[in-house]
Amino acid sequence: MRGERFQVAVVGAGAVGATSAYAMLVRGAARRVVLHDINAAKVRAEVLDLGHGAMFVPEAEIDGSDDVEICGGSDVVVVTAGAKQKPGQTRMDLAGATVDLMKKVLPAVQAVAPDAIYVLVTNPVDVVTYASLKITDLPPDRIFGSGTVLDSSRLRWLVSEACEVAVGNVHAYMAGEHGDTEVPLWSSAAIGGVPLTSWEQQTGRLGPARRDEIAHQVVNAAYEVIAGKGATNYAVGLAVARIVESIRRDENRVLPISTLLQDWHGITDVCMSVPTLVNARGAGQRLEVPLDDGELARLTASADAIRASARNLGF
Ligand code: 2OP
Repeated sequence: MRGERFQVAVVGAGAVGATSAYAMLVRGAARRVVLHDINAAKVRAEVLDLGHGAMFVPEAEIDGSDDVEICGGSDVVVVTAGAKQKPGQTRMDLAGATVDLMKKVLPAVQAVAPDAIYVLVTNPVDVVTYASLKITDLPPDRIFGSGTVLDSSRLRWLVSEACEVAVGNVHAYMAGEHGDTEVPLWSSAAIGGVPLTSWEQQTGRLGPARRDEIAHQVVNAAYEVIAGKGATNYAVGLAVARIVESIRRDENRVLPISTLLQDWHGITDVCMSVPTLVNARGAGQRLEVPLDDGELARLTASADAIRASARNLGF
C-alpha cells in the first residue's frame, strides 16, 4: 500500500493536466496534487484557481512549479505534456514531437520520483507509452497509458442511452489503440449480466447497425469535440482520476489501460489497451477476455499499426 500522504504529480498544466488535477481534487483521489509545467505563469494561475476551491473539496494540498523538484517523492506521476491535436490531425500525427519531448521530460521527473507509478496521457498514448518504457527502463507494470479508459466510458454512455439503462450497469470495453484502429469488444459486452447479443433479441434494441453507428461515434468522438472546442478535457480528467483512485485504494479495478502486452491472445511487444487489473503496484493481470475472430483480427491489426509507428521512431 502507498503512503497516506499520497502525492500525485501532474506534468503539463494544459487543459488535460489542469482538468485531471481538478477531477482528482473533487473526487479526493490524492492527498497532495502538484502541477509541473515549464510555463511558470500558467502553473501559478492553475494552482491558485484550484486552491481557491479548496474549501469545497476533500482535504488536499495543491502546489505547483516550473521546477521539476516539485514532483519529488510522488506516488503517481500523470504525464499530460505534449503537442495539442489540431482539428483534422490524428493522434498518430503527434508521435514524433511527443516522443522527443518524453526523452527530455521523463528522465528529469524519474530522477526525483523514482518509485512512482507513471500514467501517461499524452497522445498518441500507446506509442508514447512504449517509447517511455524504453526511455525510463521502468518495470512495465509501473508505467502505462490511460489508453481506452476514456473511449470505454464513451462507449458505455452511448450504449446506456440507446438501451435506456444506467451507465454503471453497462459492461463493455473499447480495446487496442486509443485512436483510429480501436475495437469495441461487443462479443463480451453485457448489460446487467445479459449479453448484448441477447439484449437485441429481448428488446429489439442495439442490433448490428446501431452497434456500428455507436462504434463509429466512439472512434470519432475526440474529433467532434476538438472541432467544436479545440480540445477534450473533462472526460479524460475523470478517467485519470479513476485510474489514480484504483492505484491509491489498491482496488484491482478492471480498466482498459495501455500496457506492454506479452502474448495476450498472441499479441506481443506492443503497448495497447486491454482490460487490466489496476492496483497499488500499478498494472496487474491483463485479462484474457474472450474474443470472436473478427475482434482478434482487428486487435492484431491495431497492434501492428502501433508497433509500426513506434518502429518508425526507432523504438
Ligand atoms: C481524446 O480521446 C484527444 O485523446 C483525446 O479525447
